Amino acid sequence: MAKRVALVTGGNGGIGTEICKQLAAAGYTVVTTCVDAEKENIADWQAERRKEGYEIGYVEANVADFDACAAMAKQVESEYGSVDVLVNAAGITRDSFLHKMDRSNWEAVISVNLNSAFNVTRQFIDSMRARGFGRIVNISSVNGQTGQFGQANYSAAKAGLHGFSMAIAKEGARKGITANTVSPGYIQTAMTDAIPEEVRNSIVAQVPTGRMGQPEEVARVVVFLAADESGYINGANIPVNGALFCSF
Ligand code: CAA
Ligand code: NAP
Repeated sequence: MAKRVALVTGGNGGIGTEICKQLAAAGYTVVTTCVDAEKENIADWQAERRKEGYEIGYVEANVADFDACAAMAKQVESEYGSVDVLVNAAGITRDSFLHKMDRSNWEAVISVNLNSAFNVTRQFIDSMRARGFGRIVNISSVNGQTGQFGQANYSAAKAGLHGFSMAIAKEGARKGITANTVSPGYIQTAMTDAIPEEVRNSIVAQVPTGRMGQPEEVARVVVFLAADESGYINGANIPVNGALFCSF
């Protein structure tokens, strides 16, 4: 069988980089999206991965922009082939209490974290249905399960991803497509580096495991869900949170 193709949005971020590396190590042809190749020095990022032994492609797209995603999908399909595995990992935070939140910070977070799942997945779902295979993994958050101070926008978007995944899971099940959510807790990346230190320390103090998670601990679950053999795991949410929030 030809190598399966995996597309990771936000694949050059903290968690995304590890997802790309582990998928490449597992034998996938891996492509990441980036918003602006030049600004992000994506060629340098790619060269770093190459030095580590991973060959990872890139395409430009702002995932908040449907038309840009449509153009990106055409490019991916012509350069790399049909996408078998889609990981929606792009995300941002714009934290503030609701009583201080302006409309632009609400809209930016909903667009990049939730609308993006539609904007990107919509481009590939027809082809997955036609081919009878697809693996969709949406990166949500513990804060979509519990809510968090300063994150009415982010918690709403991440909770929305669960609903999105469950609906797609049901629609795709008979077409060989699975859709699952991974909900990381606090993982050491640029996103959590931006939390004020005192607040971060007080959050980490509440994590039973006693530390933040590492990106590779999230990537491990993504690779598991992406596997051909994971076809009966569908519509699930898998937490990776050091027991910060336990539910069943
Ligand atoms: N738990 C308990 N109390 C909290 C709190 C928390 N997580 N966050 C804020 N508060 C309290 C503060 O202690 C403070 O209490 P007092 O008035 O009694 O002193 C009050 O709320 C106001 O807090 P600030 O003075 O900090 O108010 P602010 O308006 O300057 O900032 C904030 C508010 C934006 C929420 C800021 O506290 C903050 O950035 N908090 C971190 C939010 C957070 O956890 N974001 C996660 C980002 S990473 C991520 O999202 C990844 C993921 O998926 C897990
Ligand atoms: P990160 O290092 O900041 O990575 C975020 C990625 O998203 C970057 O590659 C970023 O690209 C990309 N991105 C942002 N806006 C975009 C847009 N409009 N279009 C396309 N790509 C865009 O953060 P991270 O911690 O790895 O987060 C990855 C995912 O995990 C996010 O969905 C986040 O919400 C989720 N998550 C993180 C944690 C955590 O504790 N770190 C916990 C739970 C869930 P640029 O570099 O160009 O900005």
